[in-house]
Amino acid sequence: MNRMKCLYLIAFAICASVLGFNCAVAGELADEDGSRLWLRGDKYNGAEVLFRGSMTPSIEIALSELRGGWRGGPVRLELKKGGGKESFRIFSDKNGIKITSAGDAGLLYGAYHLLRMQNTGADMSNIDVSEMPAFDLRILNHWDNPDGSIERGYAGHSLWRWDELPGVVAPRYREYARANASVGINGAVLNNVNASPTILTKDNLVKVKAIADELRPYGVKTYISVNFASPMVVGCLPTADPLDKGVGRWWKDKVDEIYGLIPDFGGFLVKANSEGQPGPCDYGRTHAEGANMLAAALARHGGIVMWRAFVYSASDSDRAKQASLEFQPLDGEFAPNVIVQIKNGPIDFQPREPYSPLFTSLEHTPTMVEMQLTQEYLGFSNHLAYLAPLWKEFFDFVPPSSLKGIAGVANTGDDVNWCGHHFGQSNWYAFGRMAWDPGLTSGEVAEEWLKQTFCSDSAFVTPVKGMMLDSREAVVDYMMPLGLHHIFAWGHHYGPEPWCEVPGARHDWLPSYYHRADKQGIGFDRSVTGSNAVSQYPDSLCRLYGDVSTCPEEYLLWFHHVPWGHKMRSGRTLWDELCHRYDHGVSEARRFQCVWDMAEPYVDSRRFRDVQSKLRIQSRDAVWWKDACLQYFATFSGMPISYGIERPV
Ligand code: GCU
Repeated sequence: MNRMKCLYLIAFAICASVLGFNCAVAGELADEDGSRLWLRGDKYNGAEVLFRGSMTPSIEIALSELRGGWRGGPVRLELKKGGGKESFRIFSDKNGIKITSAGDAGLLYGAYHLLRMQNTGADMSNIDVSEMPAFDLRILNHWDNPDGSIERGYAGHSLWRWDELPGVVAPRYREYARANASVGINGAVLNNVNASPTILTKDNLVKVKAIADELRPYGVKTYISVNFASPMVVGCLPTADPLDKGVGRWWKDKVDEIYGLIPDFGGFLVKANSEGQPGPCDYGRTHAEGANMLAAALARHGGIVMWRAFVYSASDSDRAKQASLEFQPLDGEFAPNVIVQIKNGPIDFQPREPYSPLFTSLEHTPTMVEMQLTQEYLGFSNHLAYLAPLWKEFFDFVPPSSLKGIAGVANTGDDVNWCGHHFGQSNWYAFGRMAWDPGLTSGEVAEEWLKQTFCSDSAFVTPVKGMMLDSREAVVDYMMPLGLHHIFAWGHHYGPEPWCEVPGARHDWLPSYYHRADKQGIGFDRSVTGSNAVSQYPDSLCRLYGDVSTCPEEYLLWFHHVPWGHKMRSGRTLWDELCHRYDHGVSEARRFQCVWDMAEPYVDSRRFRDVQSKLRIQSRDAVWWKDACLQYFATFSGMPISYGIERPV
């Protein structure tokens, strides 16, 4: 700092204190930057916490968390035989509170659960809680690249500093692992599904090991995404054909090398023959043959393959049908340690999609669902969209018990507040909590998060929780109501461009492929007389969705091409309903601004202002979406844009 600047600052500080600004200045210093997430329990050091038995790093963490944050009487931790290693029981007896589990991870989860109960004001008298996770696999998928960029990441650069590793191990790796453990997330795929083969070089595997060593004590297993052509790129083999003996041997040796470094390595995530990625189909082999070859290499060490079903091509067949067409015939052909990982909907993380029919048509194949936390199609880290209601909607159709696991495309980056938007943290939190217990309601989870992240005062929690619960529906309304989907601008997935035309572009990458607006109406006819995608659903749903008069209106334009004058349940015409929904989305975004403005007394000024500015962007974007879409669609409907039309009496 130069001398003048320094003198100026001293003079400013003296004036400020003389003029009585010192509270404001002190207030600024005390401001929160959001880096502490929901883990901001008091640092109280007098808690009596006991454990007898053989100590492990996870138990050490459990003890130190309780010693730091617990404000009640004595707590004892005990390893007990029987039950799952991640399950736990917390109960009170005459000596205080006891946490028991068959595994050290269970004791750690129990410790976080107890602290959560305390910090959210739960009734702690005669406590007796038993918890077990609904899914064995609760995994974050990081789409992080070796150069530090993140595909569809909106919170800065990658958390992993590949250029410094393994020499420098950033403290943030542990903070990240701690946050995951506190909500029960037990796995992390470190790199992008569009995987660089170089992740498998010796140099990089040593870096992966360094991260794995940081995550392990928190019960977080390390996985990596692999590129199917790695034997050619890294191993210099002439082919990556999964049935080639040399290829199989190469993968076995590579897997052995990984387990030599990381004995509890989790396994591979694979995107193959999708969006230009190499895969077994390049050699005339099936997805099952490709997956099983990798699975054989991993099985010897207890590792798994998560094989993605996100496939579609430029064929004439409806994109929404393609994953099922390709994977359903392979049902039952995958090795036992292969899990087919399927996005929640048949297209691609749209604000609303029906569930992917693969979940009900694959009957003999273990499956897991892939959700997206990073808001690729929901306003990036500029819009507040609490996603638990979207995930709950999915579970209404696909019972958690039918799934082996759940993956979430992470929304974390090296931004100080981790997720770009302070409320983005709630999606990380909710993902973990719902992966542990999908029976929790969206409201319960939102409330837990708000109380731990901001404050417990009901004058704050009640309205802000309401805003969170309404936020995803608002995004649907101002972006793509009534089953519209994928009408984003070319080149990014942020703003609207339903009119987009790019000469020579693949038709299924253009919005007109999806909305199909014309003089008669709008929407994609997927009924039996259209693409017949509806027939991929079980009979009862096929009938429900396939008939325009029974199809739930939230999926109407997903399954039908509907005339503009079609009478909706509200009594409005389809056109007026579309206008109403867009307009409603905008009013909701504006209402959220008012809700947040009233929250000011309860939130530190820094986070208050951050969120306030983001909500302003969201409101403007909502207007942009509404105006762009309605004005464009009006060129087909030929009808005036009617805002705020009320239900006719
Ligand atoms: C979307 C996303 C891509 C991503 C792909 C995937 O298409 O835009 O960036 O790679 O999904 O899930 O593989």
